[in-house]
Amino acid sequence: MPAKTRIKPKFEPAASGSEIQSFIGWSMVDGDNKKYQQMYDQIAPFYNLSNKLYFWLKFGGEANYRRQFLDELEIREGDRVLEVSCGTGDNFPFLPPNIELHGLDLSMGMLKACRRHLRKWGLSASLYHASAEELPFEDAAFDVVYHVGGINFFNDKKRAIAEMIRVAKPGTKLVIVDETEKLAKGTYERIPLVGKQYKHRSAIQAPVDLIPPGMQDLHVKEICTGLMYCLSFRVPG
Ligand SMILES: C[S@@+](CC[C@H](N)C(=O)[O-])C[C@H]1O[C@@H](n2cnc3c(N)ncnc32)[C@H](O)[C@@H]1O
Repeated sequence: MPAKTRIKPKFEPAASGSEIQSFIGWSMVDGDNKKYQQMYDQIAPFYNLSNKLYFWLKFGGEANYRRQFLDELEIREGDRVLEVSCGTGDNFPFLPPNIELHGLDLSMGMLKACRRHLRKWGLSASLYHASAEELPFEDAAFDVVYHVGGINFFNDKKRAIAEMIRVAKPGTKLVIVDETEKLAKGTYERIPLVGKQYKHRSAIQAPVDLIPPGMQDLHVKEICTGLMYCLSFRVPG
């Protein structure tokens, strides 16, 4: 197993599109992380199309879905913004312009699709292949940190939350969003290829009990007609 050094990349955003920096040795990915990494690598080529279709049918468009949680973020011009588990980058076009984008994900397949999308959208972001439980960034590196859609099935949710807090500047509002049990049971379990991954698991709950003491303004609510939860809190400044 490779030595687990804390690597501090320089935060130079690529001029257009992005190279993907990898901070993970395959042998370090195990348990549920391995299962979902393989699943996302497999579904990456058609992930967006099926998602877009779903958002149109369910919410009348992707913006109507994403705005419900992205509006929770406190982003100012010039901010350095990190999405943990950025997947194919579909939140990025909905963020304000003139910010420094950084996206991290465990699935190389999703990151490669993200890189293609960034080129298509004319956006620039630095991309990192790494686990949310071990973010390859120095402390207090980001003005904004958020996560959408993966944490329910991380190997170690508590550690991932602690890592997001560590890399956020004091005073940052963190936003964590994922599906509720209603969505997992009503939809995900029925999708071919994906459904089998969601069987034999404990019922989903927003990880409120994993937020360490001392965090401020803790809120949790259901959004997207109860299909997602949105958990937010502020790192003390
Ligand atoms: C449902 S997708 C969400 C993508 C994107 N955030 C969005 O809102 O469209 C979940 C993502 O979480 C990533 N993921 C799963 N486990 C992870 C882990 N332990 N560390 C980092 N990313 C992970 C998957 O590879 C996948 O791209």
